[in-house]
Amino acid sequence: METILKDKRIVLGVTGGIAAYKAADLASKLTQAGAVVKTIMSKNATHFVGPLTFKALTGQPVVTDLFASGSDGSIQHVSLAEEADLVVVAPATANILAKAAHGIADDALSTTLLAAQGPIVMVPAMNNHMWDNPATQANLQTLQERGVNILAPEVGRLACGSEQAVGRFPKTETILEYLKDFFATADILAGKTIIVTAGGTHEPIDAVRFIGNRSSGKMGYAIAGRAKACGAEVILISGPTNLRAPAGVRLIEVETALEMRQAVIDNLPGSAALIMAAAVADFRAASKTNGKIKKERMGDSITLELNPDILQEVAGHKDRGVIIGFAAESENIITHATSKLERKRLDLVVANDIGRSDAGFGSDFNLAVLIDHDGPQGELTMYRKSDLASEIIDWLARALGSDLHS
Ligand code: PMT
Repeated sequence: METILKDKRIVLGVTGGIAAYKAADLASKLTQAGAVVKTIMSKNATHFVGPLTFKALTGQPVVTDLFASGSDGSIQHVSLAEEADLVVVAPATANILAKAAHGIADDALSTTLLAAQGPIVMVPAMNNHMWDNPATQANLQTLQERGVNILAPEVGRLACGSEQAVGRFPKTETILEYLKDFFATADILAGKTIIVTAGGTHEPIDAVRFIGNRSSGKMGYAIAGRAKACGAEVILISGPTNLRAPAGVRLIEVETALEMRQAVIDNLPGSAALIMAAAVADFRAASKTNGKIKKERMGDSITLELNPDILQEVAGHKDRGVIIGFAAESENIITHATSKLERKRLDLVVANDIGRSDAGFGSDFNLAVLIDHDGPQGELTMYRKSDLASEIIDWLARALGSDLHS
């Protein structure tokens, strides 16, 4: 793990926030770990720390000018974007997030981001109100959907004086660990096809009404994105959501539980794993009317019939790979999730406490714990969904490496 950064070509983008001076420490530690670090600074970043600092710490030239050419006459932002193993923007201001999300290329760094062919990691740091602003959150979502990796800021004292607010630049060690893990996991699922289901199913009553649930798809999409980042071929089978599929993922859109079941069964042969994060409706209307049922003709009850349990069915399939399910529970979380693990013959269940308003359906967080046949793998923990996705994919990679089903 210590040598994973050796000879990695990293472009370090530094933008104009107070944390810009902390990027000097990051540049130094990356260089000490053997990485070749080329820095691109925004004009505003140079107000906080001088380019010479980065040049001295990395032993590499620093780009501040879009029109500067390399010693060989190359256009710097294009050549840097092409040769980099990774572009890291740390700190990333709200401004660079907005520019990158909207494809604005008006300086060396934003142009490099637009031209980059390889992975990008953004480490945002800013005032908490700027972070919480819907514009920033929408830009973050757009970037993540396009495959940009975001290392979320920490909660703590901010330069503007706010105490215990979100927006703080992570410690150098935290960023280093993230980057090491990034390189270490980049191909752990290479050559594997992973099926992920996401979102809730809609079960039509008539042409306009349906039975549905509150699933936003965020959890499943985060898993799909993480599996893709780890080198897998990903098939994302999704109920209706407002999300865009992560870059490079094959999206199959479905509406009902029956359609989701069919899509899962069709894609099962040759897949290494199925991860069911979807909230599949347990019931559907026994009969569907084609037009809109007139209010006056709607009876006072709707007859329902049971949908098939996709996980349970697939568990008995000869083509099955590793099977991971979720258990959305509001009481006796561990006991009920463990019984789902056994009853549905899963390899792993993600026990998910949905009894709180700050986690679960629609939220960016899940209060969860992984449970396999060795029992719970820790305590119920409040995870950002992207972090929970990483935990699940790490578990899966270990399971596939250990040849769970041979
Ligand atoms: O989409 P988000 O807003 O991000 O929210 C995420 C989530 C809360 C939906 C997700 O984390 C989650 O918990 N998903 C599972 C929800 C659920 O349906 O749980 P369950 O305990 O009812 O089902 C257990 C498992 O069986 C699930 O993996 C489910 O996909 C699967 N199932 C359920 C019913 C059915 N007919 N077929 C199935 O395969």
